Amino acid sequence: MIIQKTENSRISSFDPENYSFGDHFTDHMIICEYENGAWGEAKLMPYGPLPFSPSNMAFNYGQACFEGMKAYKDSSDEVYLFRVNKNFERINKSAKRLAMPEIPEEVFVGGLKALMDIDRAWIPTGEGKSLYIRPLIFATEEGLKARVSNKYMFAIVAAPATSYYSAPVSVKISDYYSRAASGGVGFAKAAGNYAASFYPTQLANDEGYEQIIWTDDSTHEYFEESGTMNVFVRIGNTIYTPPTSEKILDGVTRDSFITLAKHKGIDVRVEPIAVKDVLAAQKDGSLKEIWGVGTAVVTTAFKSYGYQGENFELPVLSEEESFALSLKKALVDIQTNAAEDPFGWRE
Ligand code: COI
Repeated sequence: MIIQKTENSRISSFDPENYSFGDHFTDHMIICEYENGAWGEAKLMPYGPLPFSPSNMAFNYGQACFEGMKAYKDSSDEVYLFRVNKNFERINKSAKRLAMPEIPEEVFVGGLKALMDIDRAWIPTGEGKSLYIRPLIFATEEGLKARVSNKYMFAIVAAPATSYYSAPVSVKISDYYSRAASGGVGFAKAAGNYAASFYPTQLANDEGYEQIIWTDDSTHEYFEESGTMNVFVRIGNTIYTPPTSEKILDGVTRDSFITLAKHKGIDVRVEPIAVKDVLAAQKDGSLKEIWGVGTAVVTTAFKSYGYQGENFELPVLSEEESFALSLKKALVDIQTNAAEDPFGWRE
């Protein structure tokens, strides 16, 4: 790897007590370029802008995908990553679906470790704090013919993370817009999936909701995801999450929640969640919680939801009563080395 360190660290201008998610970037970044059918040597260099023209194919045709990961520091200043292989495998699944070249493991994992090593001072500690890591691959060839690019860049940037949402949010169950379609790219972390979600989310915001619960594109009768997260519903003492599919992202936090819940003896059902079953449970009082999970948010609890013009409140539960919050705590304790890791996830 080529190493080019910055001579002007910006760390002294970063206030670890006063920032929001993803708005400051660490001193360095990793880049690696692909051309003539091969990835070149990765480079660690000062974080900053790169020169691309407007005819860059990623800007025009959207060949771009990314990952979300986090690094944590424990009380002895030891740095930990979490289930790295899951993200490595998924970025390559996304790349393949978008007809982009897969990234070699040594570039992905080697880049990640080198960046964490050099920028470890940027990993904040304290409740809800970590360093969010964003690996991405995007087309870099110039050209307006709608075809696969011959040039790509892999990059890793990192940004101190804090709570994504400060309080439980209200969500709208979509009965029109969908996040993904059969045969599409919903399972991939394609940049375009996020672009396509913004307009329906703005419409939901105008109606007073912060996020959307995405439903299936053919019937809108089943939950798929929520906002940029996987979704969980608790009815009685059973928790449900939809099975992954070509429309649903195979979330690392989702998978960890399922494993942790089973480990705690909670009844977990990975099966389709019908809107009508949620409404029926609301009516008979057995609907306890709905929440979203993802790397960035870990868990976002929902306080209320709207469906076809009607609003429904969810019960307010304490941390002990809430499965969402107790599973979140169990997960964060493993991630931050505050608890045993029986699954071997910390690395
Ligand atoms: C993540 O949780 O890492 C995500 O991908 C959400 C992101 C769009 C902020």
